[in-house]
Amino acid sequence: MTQDILIAPSVLSADFARLGEEVEAIDAAGADWIHLDVMDGHFVPNMSFGAPVIKALRSRSAKFFDCHLMVAPVDRYLADFADAGCDQMTVHVEAGPHLDRSLQAIKALGKRAGVSLNPATPESSIEYVLDRLDTILVMSVNPGFGGQAFIPAVVEKIRRIKAMIGSRPIRIEVDGGVGVANAGELARAGASVLVAGAAVFKGGSVDIYRANIAAIRAAAGVPGSTDR
Ligand code: DX5
Ligand code: ZN
Repeated sequence: MTQDILIAPSVLSADFARLGEEVEAIDAAGADWIHLDVMDGHFVPNMSFGAPVIKALRSRSAKFFDCHLMVAPVDRYLADFADAGCDQMTVHVEAGPHLDRSLQAIKALGKRAGVSLNPATPESSIEYVLDRLDTILVMSVNPGFGGQAFIPAVVEKIRRIKAMIGSRPIRIEVDGGVGVANAGELARAGASVLVAGAAVFKGGSVDIYRANIAAIRAAAGVPGSTDR
């Protein structure tokens, strides 16, 4: 069965001085999910924004807020992110010793649960939590910055994860260096959510964002969808 492909622009590449308008622009331009990268300057060597900014953005779009938490330790902040309006919270395998506890906490808050793997982290690390997951976020760059080069070995990793999840209703999301050049092979390998920062935000106007999103969708080889 072929799965619909969702495009999730990462606002990390947006103009932060106009973040509300940028979220409105990618919503109008056809984004399926809004990808929000939270960086703590500790788990990753960069800082971005936290729950108060997400809360302020919530009124700008009704689309699915996909919150990628590059934060360690993360558990103490989950309630704040739920309250801010995140629809899904994705935590990193590498961010703490009690992954299953973090996933239980996300579910208890009534949100979708995701887990992310850094490029060097094997997929076996999530084998024992598969039944708690809605999404597996496969990093295709070392997290911390937008605009980095895609790591090609991730394509095979996605194929292995696709086989590992079997018939479970888990989405595979890929994040980092994604664009027209690799969307097709990523979709064929089993990814069904494509995060794209630089590839969407290059240009700086809603019409260009719309064209960029459409080009990635077309390269992925499947029609658009409004599925959340
Ligand atoms: C990296 C972030 C990504 C990043 C993607 O740590 O998790 O979401 O913004 O940006 P591009 O698509 O520019 O690689
Ligand atoms: Zn991300």
